[in-house]
This record gives sequence, C-alpha cells and structure tokens, in this order.
Amino acid sequence: MTHDLHRRPRRLRTTPAMRRLVAETRLDPAGLVLPMFVQEGISQPVDLESLPGVCRHTLDSVARAAAQAVEAGLGGVMLFGVPDEPKKDATGSAATAEDGILNLALARVRQEVGDDLVVMADTCLDEFTDHGHCGVVDAHGRVDNDATLDLYMAQAVAQARAGAHVVSPSGMMDGQVGAIREALDADGFTDVSILAYAAKYASAFYGPFREAVACSLHGDRKSYQMDPANRREGVLEAELDIAEGADMVMVKPAGYYLDVLADVAQISSVPVAAYQVSGEYAMIQAASQRGWIDGPAALEESVLAIHRAGADIVLTYAALDLAQRRR
Ligand code: PBG
Repeated sequence: MTHDLHRRPRRLRTTPAMRRLVAETRLDPAGLVLPMFVQEGISQPVDLESLPGVCRHTLDSVARAAAQAVEAGLGGVMLFGVPDEPKKDATGSAATAEDGILNLALARVRQEVGDDLVVMADTCLDEFTDHGHCGVVDAHGRVDNDATLDLYMAQAVAQARAGAHVVSPSGMMDGQVGAIREALDADGFTDVSILAYAAKYASAFYGPFREAVACSLHGDRKSYQMDPANRREGVLEAELDIAEGADMVMVKPAGYYLDVLADVAQISSVPVAAYQVSGEYAMIQAASQRGWIDGPAALEESVLAIHRAGADIVLTYAALDLAQRRR
C-alpha cells in the first residue's frame, strides 16, 4: 500500500541535532530570574520544607547566592524580605526603613554583583504588615487603595536608594505603577525600572510562599488580586500598567495562566515576564520526591511552556538549577 505523504513532520525530529536546530523556543539563563528570601536575625540559612531547594537566606548567604547567579549567567534576582516578627506593624514601616531587611539585602547584593545581574525588589507591604495585607487597612477593614500608594512610593524610593535596578509592585493597587514612577523620578531615580505585576491573580498556588515569608494574613486578597475566572481583564491590567509607565509587565501565576500570558504578549509593547509561583514549583518537587515524575525534566518543560506562551522573562525558583543544567 502506498501513501502519498509529502509532508512528513517527523523528518525534523530525527536526531537531537535536528531537533535542536528547529526548536522554536529556547531556555536561556539570561531570561531567568531567581526569587530569593532574606530573613532578619538568623545566622544560618533556613531550608523551607514546602519549597525543596529554597531557603530563607542570611545577608551573607544571599550575597553568595547572587554571586552564583552571576556565575550561572542568570538574568536577575528578585528579593523578598522576612522581617523580625516584632518589627511588623499596621503600615509595614520596615519596608521603607533604611535598615529594613529587604533594603539591607538589596544593598548587600548590589555590593556583591554590581551591574553584572539585574537586582529586583518586591515592592509590597505584605511581608511587613502585622495583618498581612498588601496595603493599609481602613476603619472598615478594607484595603485602602490610595493610602497604600503613598507607602509604595516611599518603599520604592527606599529600594532604589538601597541599590535596586528594578522595583516590582506586586500589591495590585490601582495606579501603583504611575505613583511609583512619579516618586522615583522626583527623587532622581529616573533610571530605575518598574517591573509591574500587571495581571496577578488571587491564587491558591501562593501557599508555600506565604510560609516562606511567614505571612500574617488571615483571610484572602480577593478584593485586590484578580479573579482567576477573568482572562480579558488581564489585558486591561497590562494596558493600564504600560500606560502608567511600566517598563516590563508580568503575569502571575504562570503555568495555569498561559492564555492570559499569550494575550498579554500579543498586545504588549514592553518585555513580558511570568512568575512560576511557589505552588507550581512545589507540586513538581513533591511529585518528583515520590518518584512520580522526573522533576528536572518537568521543571524544564514547565518553564519552556511559559516561554512558548510568550514570556520573555521567567521568574522561577528553579532558575539556578535550570541554568546549571544548561552548562
Ligand atoms: C506579594 C507576593 C506574593 C508572591 C509574590 N509577591 C504572595 C501573595 O500575593 O500572596 C507569591 C509568589 C509565590 O507564590 O511564589 N508580595
């Protein structure tokens, strides 16, 4: 029996060299960003049970990890602070203090890596407030959008002063990008970029992160983070942030929001990032520990898929491992 098959897509799958040649998407360490946690008042790094391979760093160990990130050719690091419990208050004042843990960590990492790596700061109050919300809470228990903007402006300037190349507002307050841009410019930080968490959803996949930063939240963030049911709104959020001056926009989580990511990548005039969040990473690690899936292969595939959907930049806890495996 003869088959008239002129088109044989399998021809381009015959050898590893051929597959490499025709790959539409590549994993390049330069497009990966490693999120890291820095805790105040510890003398040794503390491993995180729900995030295998991730720890809360000391100031010394985060500097060493940043140097490793440079060595591995990563694009950047994203720093989160974990303050001493008694330093948390209603307005998250440790977020702005020069000796707040995140600001100390930014300064320390910049001192270590200079300009060899893009140093990013999480610009949000949730790690620093005693109630755990991303902003200040009014008399009715609601997160007050505009009062929060004033604090984000001060926090962003403090982070820029500490040495952040990029500030990353993740609190989903309306107008946060424009407010932060104005504050940075007014203080002379015109070269500090804003990576906007543009389409950030109220996701159950942030669970391990909240353990990592010892978050004090009771309740949820559904009055400011987006509803997972909404796709079109992701584009609106990205458009608003770009109009307000975002230098880069982000979709978060990544793997379960590839449709939103593809939409945002389609319309964006600025680089697009996506955050493979703690729960996405932890599920792969947990299944891998049980021998149910090949962890490294699944991590690589998951990050490749995020790039394929349109992300130029991927934030992932696996950044260093992925980069080192490329070598
Ligand atoms: C808020 C923030 C969160 C994450 C990054 N920035 C948590 C939240 O919104 O509850 C989650 C990241 C992750 O799960 O890996 N500052």
